[in-house]
Amino acid sequence: MANEVFCRSFQAAMKAGNYFMGYRTPQLVAAGPGSVKKLPFAIKQQGVNNILLVTDEGLLKLGLPSRLTEALEKTNVRYTLFSDVQPNPTDLNVEAGLELYKQNNCEGIVAFGGGSPMDCAKGIAARLAHPNKTIPQLQGILKVHKRIVPFWAVPTTSGTGSETTVAAVLTEAATHHKASINDPAILPKYAVLDPELTVGLPPFITATTGMDALCHAVEAYTNQTYNTSVENTMAKDAVRLIHDWLYVAYQDGSDLKAREKMQYAAFYAGRAFTRGCVGYVHAVGHTLGGLYGVAHGLAMSVILPHVMRQFGPAVYDRLADLADVCGLPGTDKQKKAENFIAWIEDMKIKMGLPAGFDCIRKEDYEQIWKWADAEANPLYPVPVIWQKEDFYHLLDTLREAHY
Ligand SMILES: NC(=O)c1ccc[n+]([C@@H]2O[C@H](COP(=O)([O-])OP(=O)(O)OC[C@H]3O[C@@H](n4cnc5c(N)ncnc54)[C@H](O)[C@@H]3O)[C@@H](O)[C@H]2O)c1
Ligand SMILES: [Fe+2]
Repeated sequence: MANEVFCRSFQAAMKAGNYFMGYRTPQLVAAGPGSVKKLPFAIKQQGVNNILLVTDEGLLKLGLPSRLTEALEKTNVRYTLFSDVQPNPTDLNVEAGLELYKQNNCEGIVAFGGGSPMDCAKGIAARLAHPNKTIPQLQGILKVHKRIVPFWAVPTTSGTGSETTVAAVLTEAATHHKASINDPAILPKYAVLDPELTVGLPPFITATTGMDALCHAVEAYTNQTYNTSVENTMAKDAVRLIHDWLYVAYQDGSDLKAREKMQYAAFYAGRAFTRGCVGYVHAVGHTLGGLYGVAHGLAMSVILPHVMRQFGPAVYDRLADLADVCGLPGTDKQKKAENFIAWIEDMKIKMGLPAGFDCIRKEDYEQIWKWADAEANPLYPVPVIWQKEDFYHLLDTLREAHY
């Protein structure tokens, strides 16, 4: 059971500690259409000539990494391709990539893909820094705490913001437990935002990954405790960009302006939650990813409005701010908050996303609660601290939800 006094005391100490964490925003070594081709020069500039390129099979089949590998060849940067990364990547994926890195004497890592390859690559970097620890031993807060190898992140989805976060979310294959490494040491130093890489994202993945970014911004903004004005501004900017551009990108994937706006939305939202933290949407969503293989963005899309509604009056002020940012109407804070949640649900319907999940099994409630509670409490400064029955209530809502 989460103890309210303990959680809030922990968070007060963490708030003070956060001022010494050295959160930073990655340097954008290149940005704009076609900019990935400039990355090899930036790699060479750092004196690195041999990299591990971490991506996934789906991207390889689409031929997307070839835009980078051709440029690497022209610039004489050697690379070893590692694409054995599954969605909801596991510790075993990390170990396989680590072996390749060592066998080929690589000097740095380029993570090329969505959150799955980026997080797997961060896991490889964390393991290189700690050769004698396993991924489960590195999960939690501040367990890496050592300089990692040179690392460049190239996102091809606009959702996780992993290119700008302290997190790497990895599943332990043996137990299906999905959990995060959280450490500023794995926050990428360099990133490339090339919107052309996201043009081929199918509408469903555009929708779910975009909702993941929304979730980061909304959870970071409603959490409050750890935020400074930097995180609050970034969260609001991200919400405004998603309000204005996600549906445009969903309808016309080739709209480069919409793709570019969504890349920045994911980037800002990632930066916002890297200090502000996420909340129960993520804590519960991760368990559904680990237990049932539900894609992260889909889990976020489904759970977000239900959690915000269950928080009730505790989030009216904050959600009213976000409604204002989006230009949504409302005569008072409660009305605005309700309109903000209604906008999220309206977007879900327009993009063909489900209201709930029928995969959740009652016999798993206890495990889901234990994992979600352990992830969120006391670290995430959520607006209302939930007990077991609150988690069970959410799970009931998710099972019964329909439009
Ligand atoms: N590190 C963090 O801060 C953080 C934050 C949120 C989520 N996550 C984690 O990230 C993972 C999810 O990442 P994701 O949502 O980006 O999805 P993903 O990386 O799993 O990719 C989903 C699918 O989209 C395909 N894809 C990726 N880019 C594409 C493109 N440009 N065109 C066509 N297809 C493309 C992939 O091949 C894959 O099949 C989860 O494990 C989640 O827990 C991490
Ligand atoms: Fe997320």
